[in-house]
Amino acid sequence: MRYHLTTFGCQMNEHDSERMRGVLEDLGYSRVDARDEADLILFNTCTIRGSADERFLGNLGDAKRVKRERPDALVAVGGCWAQSMKEQVFREFPFVDIAFGPSEVARLGELVARERIDAVGAFSFDGAFSGSLPARRERAHQAWVQISVGCNCVCAYCIVPSVRGRERSRPLADVVGEVRALAADGVVEVTLLGQNVNSYGRDLPREERATFAELLRAVAGVEGIARVRYTSPHPKDMKADVIAAMAECPEVCEHLHLPAQSGSTRILKAMRRTYSRERYLDLVARLRGAIPDLSLTTDLIVGFPGETEADFEDTLRLVEECRYDGAYTFLYSPRPGTEAAERLPDDVPAEVKRERIGRLVEVVQRTAAERAARFVGTTGEVLVEGPSRTDPSKLRGRLRQNITVNFTGTAAPGSLVRVAIEGATSTTLSGRQAGAPAPADLVPA
Ligand code: 5AD
Ligand code: SF4
Repeated sequence: MRYHLTTFGCQMNEHDSERMRGVLEDLGYSRVDARDEADLILFNTCTIRGSADERFLGNLGDAKRVKRERPDALVAVGGCWAQSMKEQVFREFPFVDIAFGPSEVARLGELVARERIDAVGAFSFDGAFSGSLPARRERAHQAWVQISVGCNCVCAYCIVPSVRGRERSRPLADVVGEVRALAADGVVEVTLLGQNVNSYGRDLPREERATFAELLRAVAGVEGIARVRYTSPHPKDMKADVIAAMAECPEVCEHLHLPAQSGSTRILKAMRRTYSRERYLDLVARLRGAIPDLSLTTDLIVGFPGETEADFEDTLRLVEECRYDGAYTFLYSPRPGTEAAERLPDDVPAEVKRERIGRLVEVVQRTAAERAARFVGTTGEVLVEGPSRTDPSKLRGRLRQNITVNFTGTAAPGSLVRVAIEGATSTTLSGRQAGAPAPADLVPA
């Protein structure tokens, strides 16, 4: 039996897909690159913005064609779009055999088996948190580790709380156990994942209660782990203990993805982000004070209901003031069931949104290029990931600041090397490997 999996959405989904691969491959399924050759056509979906739905629906149309040609192929749809469509999915898309929500990856095997036996649409939505399924990692030396699922925030634009549910944290001992096992398997870099990663632990029972800062320190202390990252934090939960853990643990990398969403206090309030422009700037100042050479990235939404030219200019100025190394910029898109979609008119005209995002991208790229240039002439630690995508005679890896470096050198994937940085664009650096590799205990066999 062969399966074909297409993943949409965030790193949480990418990681859930690694679990889906693990579950299926344990059942004897093998991976196939062409959808036309698969016995099981599987999608892991996203519904964060209207554009995510559109992209997925195009692919689902292709699966419908395959199913018409080969009716015994199974079509399975998991993840956030499936969850948001749980009332309608089989009615509107009758060729879909299996649907399941983001917390139901553990039951994928059972759903597939049941469908093979009874041939009635199988679905599963309201399951428990499953933290430790087998996973087929995409990279040998880097791993994602889910520390929580769900989100208790009420950001007015966001559909995530309604599809992923309330926040549930994994006990610290489970997380550390998984990280130890990963380290034993050759992993040197872990990225802790959660929808609101730094509010971790508050829901744990008293005897297991732990904070995100304690978890960061515990993971950083696992032998063999040279780099720890995490995503995505909420500014409101970026407390002094988290900043201290970042500053004090040499394994925790000098990079933070800190979604701002807007630079206007008025819009932030309407978004229910619970911080003002000033508080965000103050947080950035404290982070920069504690962690020298921090690289900072963010998410920004353009055209939220009620956004005026003055609000938008506040966002432009925020980019300048924070000196972001990069930013994801999004056009506001109303999502069914969210507070903004239900209560606030989508009143910024499409052409104004487009004009604003164009101006924003320009400022983001200029700032990122200025920031990247600071590395030229320095030597930094790079974790080697493999051959360069643009020039296979070179290697590709990442600085602790999460910036990609293409360089000439001879190191094996998974090793940490010193690279002299010689050139920069707004998104990548170039250079050459310098001197000897990092200490032998950090270089996996
Ligand atoms: N419209 C536009 N952007 C959105 N995001 C989340 N919901 C919406 C929406 N309805 C953006 C936010 C979030 C990122 C993952 O997607 O910036 O941080
Ligand atoms: Fe998309 Fe959000 Fe689901 Fe991630 S959690 S897949 S971004 S809807």
